[in-house]
Amino acid sequence: MRPDAIAVLDFGSQYAQLVARRVREVAVYCELFPWDTQEERVIELRPKGFILSGGPASVYDSEAPQIPDYVFRTGLPVLGICYGMQALTHTLSGRVASSSEREYGIATIETLTENPLILGGEQQVWMSHGDRIEDLPDHFITFARSENSPIAAMGDMERGYFGVQFHPEVSHTPGGKEILRRFVVDVCGATASWTPESIIAESVARVRMQVGDGKVLSAVSGGVDSSVATALVHHAVGDQLNAIFVDNGLLRKQESAEVVRTFRNVMGVELVAIDAVEEFMKALSGITEPEKKRNIIGERFIRIFEREAQQLGAANFLVQGTIYPDVVESSAPERAKAARIKTHHNVGGLPEDMSFELVEPLRYLFKDEVRKVGEKLGLPSELVWRQPFPGPGLAVRCLGEVTPARLTRLRDADAILTYELEKAGFLHLNRQNGEVQGTAQAFTVMLPVRSVGVMGDQRTYEEVVAIRAVTTEDFMTADWARLPYELLARVSSRIVNEVPNVNRVVYDITSKPPATIEWE
Ligand code: XMP
Repeated sequence: MRPDAIAVLDFGSQYAQLVARRVREVAVYCELFPWDTQEERVIELRPKGFILSGGPASVYDSEAPQIPDYVFRTGLPVLGICYGMQALTHTLSGRVASSSEREYGIATIETLTENPLILGGEQQVWMSHGDRIEDLPDHFITFARSENSPIAAMGDMERGYFGVQFHPEVSHTPGGKEILRRFVVDVCGATASWTPESIIAESVARVRMQVGDGKVLSAVSGGVDSSVATALVHHAVGDQLNAIFVDNGLLRKQESAEVVRTFRNVMGVELVAIDAVEEFMKALSGITEPEKKRNIIGERFIRIFEREAQQLGAANFLVQGTIYPDVVESSAPERAKAARIKTHHNVGGLPEDMSFELVEPLRYLFKDEVRKVGEKLGLPSELVWRQPFPGPGLAVRCLGEVTPARLTRLRDADAILTYELEKAGFLHLNRQNGEVQGTAQAFTVMLPVRSVGVMGDQRTYEEVVAIRAVTTEDFMTADWARLPYELLARVSSRIVNEVPNVNRVVYDITSKPPATIEWE
């Protein structure tokens, strides 16, 4: 059964994805469409209501995005956020005052009248707008005001049209999620049924319909997305699925054994594990240039995957762990796209000349939904909640030549860092009283230099390990994590004492930009 849904029309806001995520968090399915998407595509979703996102334009711009006619023709409820509210006002003959001055930051709104969206009293909201509403459209009333926005929220209860000048989707508007819940559940009447169970049931039905009795192949890398996608497809088609895991020798300590154990023993998947460590090491021997390493690893993976796939016999489908943000970003309005997109050359990608139909069971899921589904399917939480790990693995963290001996040092140092961070509660990001603590990503790097040290009475000339630990929401920008000195001291002393051939540990204190998170 299809879940009730809401359509979010994206007018180019940097927060558009966040709107969709918040609606999903109140267990209502929703999809994001660029504002000029063809009517049929949007209506196909059979939405119960529309949310119009914010955006950088002014309604007076010559090419300002318009609310499509069908939104009004459907007679469904509409909530305009920021630009969405201004566009609603402009279209329904209210007056928007253009202004060169922006109101940006935290503001307090005061509710003026009882209404279906906003609780009474005062509350904190996040504002980010230039233009503002000067005259209400006919039949609308003002719900709330702020110091700089006399009409901070408005509505026409009869038609179910609403507008808020502030951003209910961001965390600086603490009551924002409740406003969105009231709109989608109370006003639009959508049933809150988008839960991990229903997501799994829906995906399983979709995969079964697509695959029929065909054979499906999957490449498991140990990453969250490929693991959950594989587990979901296995749930749907059982032994019609063959999963291949290529051990390239570039995973972290114990990781490859853990992947094999999880899939075979816990999930009951027919996993073919290929020990290709030597093959990769040989191919990487003598290579120090980062891009060359990436290319070699990517190419080698494809070769091995093809070889093994052939041995398993003809398959019609290939599982891909594409998730919703990838899909949305490739179709976002141009202006938003330019600001957001960053592509990575991904190892584990699809062999280009193999002819498979893709099965993408996570195509409509956000990362947090992928994780919840993974947990529900029984994947271990260390796997489901793990920090991002680059496709080319430890090769891009082993600066200079990648050798088995250096990889062992790197793995051992990394395991110490991870253990100590976990023990101190710093392995994940926590938010406490508005303060961010912990790390979004933390790892060690082997530097391509040696340095002089002293151990006992001996002079040493050994390797240097760098610790990289960052806080970030989106990995596009990042700050170095302010880890406690005592924690850094413990990690450093354990690494030099326990990892042979390492005599120095340094801490990377650069943000991104100008640096990147990885060193290569
Ligand atoms: P950078 O180093 O560009 O990394 O700041 C941003 C995020 O992307 C991850 N990363 C990769 N992921 N293949 C991937 O799948 C890659 O080649 C790759 N390079 C970097 C990195 O770990 C960080 O989370």
